[in-house]
This record gives sequence, C-alpha cells and structure tokens, in this order.
Amino acid sequence: MAKNTESHQEETRVFKPSKEIAREAEVKSFAEYKKLHAKSLKNPEKFWAREASNLVWSKKWKKVLNWKLPYAEWFVGGQLNASENCLDRHLDGPRRNKAAIIWEGEPGDKMTLTYQQLHREVCVFANILKRNGVKKGDRVLIYMPLIPEAVIAMLGCARIGAVHTVVFGGFSSDSIKDRLADSGAKIVVTADAGYRRGQIVTIKQNVDHALAGSTEVKRVIVAKRTDIEVNIQEDRDVWWHQEAQYVSADCPAVPVDSEHPLFILYTSGSTGKPKGILHTTGGYMVGTAATSRYIFDFKENDIYWCTADVGWITGHSYLVYGPLANGTTCMLYEGAPNWPEPDRFWKIIAEQRVTILYTAPTAIRAFMKWGDDWPKKHDLSSLRLLGSVGEPINPEAWMWYHKMIGAGRCPIMDTWWQTETGAILISPLPGATPLKPGTATLPFFGVDAAIVDDKGKELPHGESGKLVIRKPWPSMLRTIYGDKARYIKTYWSEVKGCYFTGDGARRDKDGYFWIVGRIDDVLNVAGHRLGTAEVESAIVGHDSAAEAAVVGRPDEIKGQGVVAFVVLKEGHAASKELAEKIRSHVAKAIGPIAKPDEIRFAEALPKTRSGKIMRRLLKQIAAGVQITGDTTTLEDLSVLTRLSKNGE
Ligand code: PRX
Repeated sequence: MAKNTESHQEETRVFKPSKEIAREAEVKSFAEYKKLHAKSLKNPEKFWAREASNLVWSKKWKKVLNWKLPYAEWFVGGQLNASENCLDRHLDGPRRNKAAIIWEGEPGDKMTLTYQQLHREVCVFANILKRNGVKKGDRVLIYMPLIPEAVIAMLGCARIGAVHTVVFGGFSSDSIKDRLADSGAKIVVTADAGYRRGQIVTIKQNVDHALAGSTEVKRVIVAKRTDIEVNIQEDRDVWWHQEAQYVSADCPAVPVDSEHPLFILYTSGSTGKPKGILHTTGGYMVGTAATSRYIFDFKENDIYWCTADVGWITGHSYLVYGPLANGTTCMLYEGAPNWPEPDRFWKIIAEQRVTILYTAPTAIRAFMKWGDDWPKKHDLSSLRLLGSVGEPINPEAWMWYHKMIGAGRCPIMDTWWQTETGAILISPLPGATPLKPGTATLPFFGVDAAIVDDKGKELPHGESGKLVIRKPWPSMLRTIYGDKARYIKTYWSEVKGCYFTGDGARRDKDGYFWIVGRIDDVLNVAGHRLGTAEVESAIVGHDSAAEAAVVGRPDEIKGQGVVAFVVLKEGHAASKELAEKIRSHVAKAIGPIAKPDEIRFAEALPKTRSGKIMRRLLKQIAAGVQITGDTTTLEDLSVLTRLSKNGE
C-alpha cells in the first residue's frame, strides 16, 4: 500500500456530485452537509434522537445518552426489537410484497424472499430456537455459507433476544472452538455444506471437528444446502427443515432494552486472541439504519448489493440490519466473483438490474487484473451508486471502478469504519460531497473524528497522526466480551478521553481524511483483519517452529500480503516442503485467508536489547526495500544481514 499512500499526496482530481443525484438525495449540497455536520457536533444527541425516532420502539427512551467514559448507554430506558424493525414494520404497506432478499447460489440456483416471506421464515426459525431451549440472552453461534438461512438465523436470534455470534464460513474448526469457548454458546446453527469456486465446502464437518469432545454444545441445527451426506449425531444434531415441521409461524418479537446485546463478532487485534466485539440493540440499529439511508441514499426501487459475507461486520451492518431496517431489496450471492468466469458480478448486476454495488478494493483490483473485457460484456447501466469498504482504495482502482463500472456516472462512497464502530463513521454523501479518489472524505453527522499526536493534541492539516473519535456514537462497541480490561487498554488508553481506532491518517487542506493504514500489529489482507500475533501463534503451534515474526508487505491485489519469518527448532531443516507444511498448518488453525504468502527461515530474529522483535526492519526486508533507519539497538546485526541475504 506504500505506493498508494504516496500517490495520496498528489491527488488533485475532484468529482462533484451530479445535479441529478443531488436533486434526489437526502442531503443536497456540500454547504448543507457542512451546516448540518457542524450543528450535529454541537448537539450529537439531538441528531441521533431524531434518527432514532425513525425506528419502531415498544417503549420510548427516557435519556438519549449516558456517557461515563469509556462506557456509553444509548436510548436509555427504551425498548425495541431489531427483527421487528427489519421486518414487521414493513408488513403494513406495499413493502409487504416487495423482495427483501434476492439470493443467487454459486451453481446458479436462485431464490427470492419478500418481506412477508422473510418475516415468516424468521418467525419459524425463532420458534425452532425456542423449541431447542434457546432463551433471551443466550449466545448462538452461526457458521454458515452465504445462503438466506444465514440471515434468517441472525434475525431469528434477534427476534427472541438471543445473541448471535457469526463465524465466517471460511474459518477453521479451531476458530469455531475458540469462539464457542469465549462466547459460551451452547447451540450452533450451520449447514451441511456450501459452494465455493465450484467446490463443495464441508461446513458441517468443520463443526463436527470443533465439537469433538465438547459437552457444552447441546444442539446443532443444520440447514440443508446440498445433497452430500453428513454425519448427524443423534441427541445433538437436528435438521432445520425437519424442525420447521414442529413449530408454528407465529412468533411475536420480544421487546428488549436498548442496551440488550444484539451480537458478538470476533475480530483480530494485536494479541493472539481474537476479541469478541459486543454490540447492543438500540444504538446499533439507529447507527446502521441512519448511515445506510444517508450514504446509500436508498430509494424504494433500488436493488442494493453488498458483496460482503455475513461473517464480517459489513455483512451484519450493511447486508442485514441497515438495509432491511430501511425496507430495501438486498441482493445476496453465495460464491466467488470469478466463478465460473471472472464476470460473475457483472452478469448478476445485468440480470438483476442492481442499482447500488458495495464492495471491497481488493475485489476491484482483482477485476482490474482480469481485464476490461469482462465488465464490457455486460449492461451495467442500472447502477447508480458505488461503494467501497475494508481498506484504503488506491486512486488507480478508484478511477477504474468509476470509469469501467460506474461509467463515470456513479458516485463512489468510500466508507471508513470498523467492526468496533458498528456503522460507517467517515464517508461522502452522494448528493453533497465532492469526491477525491482515495479518500473516505469527511465524518458522518454526529461523528467527531480527529488526527492527533501521541499526546492527544490535534494536528494541523497535512500532518499524519492517530485517527481518534472524540465523542461517543450510538453504534460503538460496548465492550470486549468478557474482557473489560482489554477494552479499556485497546481503545481508551492510547489517547486520553478519545476512542483510538488503531489507524494512522492525515487530513488534506480541505480537511478530508486519508487513511494510511493500521499503526498497531494488525494486518489488513484483502480487506480482512489479521493479527500478526494470531498468525505467529499458529505458526509456533507447528512442531518444527521455535519462533516466528509475521509482517505485511504491499500486495497488488490484496493490499497486504503475509510474510512470516520462522526460526526452526533444533533437528529441523529449512525446506520448501516444510514451508508448505507450515502454510497449511496456519490455514488449518485460522483459515485460508491467514495462510502466509511466504515463509522465510532465519537463524534468529532481529531484536532490540529489550527483546522486542524489530518489525520495522522485517517489513523492509519483506518488501524488498533497502534497510534504512537506526539499527544501533540491534542485538545481533549479523542476523539482519543474513535475513536480508536470504531474501535476495
Ligand atoms: O484500517 C481500517 C480499514 O479496516 C479497518 C477495520 O477493519 P474491520 O473491523 O475488519 O472492518 C472492515 C469493514 C468495515 C480499519 O481500522 N478500513 C476499513 N474501511 C476503510 C479502511 N481503511 C481505509 N479506507 C476505508 N474505507
């Protein structure tokens, strides 16, 4: 990404909102945005309360915000239900028969669920959960391919006040096991299998491995996606479709307190153990509903496609809760973008007449590489708005997306946010913000973002520093599940009084935010977070490895690639085969996305006198850059030289 970061400095292209888009948009000019933003910062609670009144509440809140740093409570005393806000509220009018989900499986099978149908399926599933002993507050682990049942399962949990924790279907059985232990979930919802790149992914088998020897999990509910045979363990496993025969389709939504937990989602941090980010109901729903309405500018006839998996926060906030709360039609696609050919996305857009596409820079860069002929084969004229999320989008990719996919007509919403923030915090608004390729532009209403130095002093425009948020916002995480101390240390100790994002950034002369990337030990690989410590601990879990250091290096498609420096135990010799074994071991321990692109064996790792691994140097070696900077604190300089040489 270094190259991209540099080109930020020179970016002078500006794309103003078109008159047509501005006319129809919620916020119609830059002046209006600036005025509203300034007003919202003076009194964020007023802004958020107005947005909250767009939702359905069983009981109105008494107080908008209780803020005792670092703990926030929003819409205190209020009660609501997230699934009611996504479903029931749309059933009284014409949206009843509108498509809520248009789903396409990788092999080409299709299914459409109207709001009424989705509501029915969610009620049935909520009753299945109840029948299987799930109660309000219980945690339910969902491990599924991207099929409608994944969304139904999430909303089914929300309907009865159960707390879902979705684990990405590409993660390993060890990852399921860890998350089960941490969340205390006693029930798992899964599927027999899924499809990916023409292959069958044996989802249920991974669950079986994760549960081997476990007595905690009492029930596994299995959705049927394929015809493959799976192991059904009597007394533990039940088929979703069979259970559905025993329950009614009547399940009133249970009103929960605004601060009742909605879900836990695990994400990587700078230690080996993923963090369970806890989101609650009222604030999260207000944040996701409001941001999706303003930023994606939903219209009644939109077909909106967010390409993320439900296993990530983007899938939670902008595939399920935000758009459904707005009564939007959501496209859902199960498989790979290049299956059977690299034009699958464009084919879907043309066939379904998708109007809004929200995807990731890594996908855009892959499409660029596959060539212009693929999108050119299809009619993409239905598109009116594009979105980007997950990592900084380099200006080259932005321009390609704008020209080739958006035909120069569709504004690009480059949205900055995190698992922890729950909703988008920095983003343009389609009818208001002049766009510059590569920047997420300016903060959303009520969001007080700033760039500060190590002491917390705000830096002048042009200078790089830490990105912080100075005021609480409704969809912010409430804690790290079961680990208050880590919550305080990670987010509230780095800069006094502020939420620390972990990102480095700077503002340009117009105040636009340019995100440079993570400044902690977290990598961003293909838009997904990976903790270096997590990968290192997986590597040293292999018999041969004594010590490991993992760093990122710039990667043309994935943004960052993973390079691991490995010191072997006595009696093990470096070889290509061993490197391959270690790579596979990491894939098995975490999931294929964590597989190092390269393993470099070393006799020792360069360390400071106090024993800290000198990652800065390793990064330079990994990137093939000449080593610069101060190396006088190195324990053994020869180690460094040897590492460098290995790489040549
Ligand atoms: O470094 C930022 C990057 O992704 C991180 C958050 O990762 P995660 O919690 O997995 O959520 C990804 C989806 C919201 C951030 O700290 N990031 C996300 N969006 C952008 C971004 N960096 C630059 N520009 C973005 N639009």
